[in-house]
Amino acid sequence: MISTLHLRRRGADGAPAGDDPAGPGPRLVYGADYNPEQWPREVWEEDVRLMREAGVTLVSVAIFSWARLQPSATEWDFGWLDEVMDLLHGAGIAVDLATATASPPPWLTTAHPEILPVTADGTTLWPGARQHWRPTSPVFRAHALRLVREMALRYRDHPVLAAWHVNNELGCHNVYDHSDDAARAFREWLRVRYGTLEGLNHAWGTAFWSQRYGAWEEILPPRRAASHPNPTQQLDFKRFSSDALRDHLRAEREILREITPDVPVTTNFMVMGGTRGMNYPEWADEIDFVSNDHYVHPGPQDRDELSFSANLVSGIAGGRPWFLMEHSTSAVNWQPVNAAKRPGDLARDSLLHVAHGADAVCFFQWRQSAAGAEKYHSAMVPHAGPDSELFRAVTALGTTLRELAPVAGTDREAAPVGILYDWDSWWAAEQDSHPSSLLDYRQEALDWYSALLALGVRADLVTTRADLSRHRVLIAPVLHVVPAALAKELTRYAEQGGHLVTTYFSGVVDENDHVWLGGYPGALRELLGVRAEEFGPLAAGEGVALDDGTTGTLWTDRLTVTDPATEVLVRYADGVQAGRPAVTRRATGGGAAAYVSTRLGVDGLTRLLPRLLDPAGVGSELPEAARGRVETAVRRGPGGRFVFLVNRTDGTVPVTGQRGDLLVGTGGPDGTVVLGPREVAVLRQLADAR
Ligand code: GAL
Repeated sequence: MISTLHLRRRGADGAPAGDDPAGPGPRLVYGADYNPEQWPREVWEEDVRLMREAGVTLVSVAIFSWARLQPSATEWDFGWLDEVMDLLHGAGIAVDLATATASPPPWLTTAHPEILPVTADGTTLWPGARQHWRPTSPVFRAHALRLVREMALRYRDHPVLAAWHVNNELGCHNVYDHSDDAARAFREWLRVRYGTLEGLNHAWGTAFWSQRYGAWEEILPPRRAASHPNPTQQLDFKRFSSDALRDHLRAEREILREITPDVPVTTNFMVMGGTRGMNYPEWADEIDFVSNDHYVHPGPQDRDELSFSANLVSGIAGGRPWFLMEHSTSAVNWQPVNAAKRPGDLARDSLLHVAHGADAVCFFQWRQSAAGAEKYHSAMVPHAGPDSELFRAVTALGTTLRELAPVAGTDREAAPVGILYDWDSWWAAEQDSHPSSLLDYRQEALDWYSALLALGVRADLVTTRADLSRHRVLIAPVLHVVPAALAKELTRYAEQGGHLVTTYFSGVVDENDHVWLGGYPGALRELLGVRAEEFGPLAAGEGVALDDGTTGTLWTDRLTVTDPATEVLVRYADGVQAGRPAVTRRATGGGAAAYVSTRLGVDGLTRLLPRLLDPAGVGSELPEAARGRVETAVRRGPGGRFVFLVNRTDGTVPVTGQRGDLLVGTGGPDGTVVLGPREVAVLRQLADAR
């Protein structure tokens, strides 16, 4: 994977050499989706002038332009886009050019309604919005690839072309398609996975409920059924659906690589909120740099969630820099109530992404639309025009990003704690017909993350593809799917000195969603030195007291200790499990393996965590007064070690004892950094350069 540093023929910002107001050298990218086709020609000149004023260095163009570029099956109209590309080139603003395949035009869906996706209950998703295409439709694929080829041939030599943007948010609206095309492709995918029908029948446990398949043609996607569809069929359909979109990504990318081998290719992921359909760790190798879109979902943990998502993107990108392709300057339009951001949020939200490895800060979109479904979604230039607080904040951020140029291209420095995030476990743990339908995989992981933030302890979100040994403590919340190889890896991790922490409903099934027999937590039973014969899920609103004063919700286990090396840290104080272990820790080799059998929530975890971190020698790097109020993240490269200090509160927070030069932020005497409400400071420590 390459970073944005390698954008073709240009510096990190993609601006053509010699025409960059900031001078030469790498720097952070600043920009937006730019949709000039929504505006008359006169507005384009003003756009480009304002972009320069704001410090914009790159825009993503043509994302939803298919209908304009190809007005009918036999006509092409590139003239307007040629003009836009030339205009941007003249202004020194680079282009991340979309392949424009995200929203098929009406002529195509009229001629070929068989490309429209179908839901589990047989409803067709009609045109009229966007992304109404089946990932497995051969007809859609042929038309989309024809467009990609035309785009690539047309702009292959255009000097402003810095990167390719495949489609847009693949799977945002169409990840699960249950059509006949999907059924055919699903069978092919299953043949590759299992080879034989016997293999499939075994994996899907079809001896249950008379589901045995005698021919591949009998297999269907999990369409709406009379009761719970087969769980392994459901899990495989999730895996298949993610792979089907990845195939589409590959197909577009192959054409781009053939025609423009030097132009990096990306596609924008959606690591945010509950978006779970795409297994991004498996997609990351398919592109030249990882991009992500993020929107704040208002709630008590909203900025923790932003940090969590950015951190997870960094994990998916293997710690290398990545590209924030979209976020919002202020309100969105798709929540029940769409509040504007408060002063300072725009900069703080942006810089939090940079703290976690983003080398680009881009927005949806440049100019707020006057018409269409997103006309009330904020943009860099709002309806009020450039004479607005918002545009002034946008311009100020452009200046800040220029000041942060030395950060461009740096990697994340491994944190003492890793949090393992696993798509298979996410998908499988939340399926139906389980002990509890209230389990929320992402929320559990986020709670651990929030608790670490409350303690001021740095943590990295990591995937199973990462080198887990880089972290002294590894927290694996609800690691439900544990194939034998992963159980071995985690055992090795703990035996070699790592401190593993896992939770309820972990280790329970293998990759086929078959239960590991002999007692829970199945594959991790020996490593953890505990055994549960039964789960004890709790009703919504129900809680059980623990003997350390905290309360467990959601889940309990009928747990016994099976190994003399297992210590009971916390017991249930009431409820059916009263007196039984709730939290345990087994010393193993140089490390340990701890088990938390209930949901403790942010407060309970904040209280418990020091007991799990202390034995590993892990604590906060912040002065005591700043813990919980300030988040730290560290990036590192040849130009230095960059410490980001992010004020999590609405008050002023002094952070004492800081070393290094302030690139951004306000310093006080004696190494004190003074963070205003929601402010971010960045220190550069040269002595620690790599
Ligand atoms: C994204 C999408 C953009 C825009 C934005 C609004 O999902 O890629 O085109 O719709 O959301 O928040």
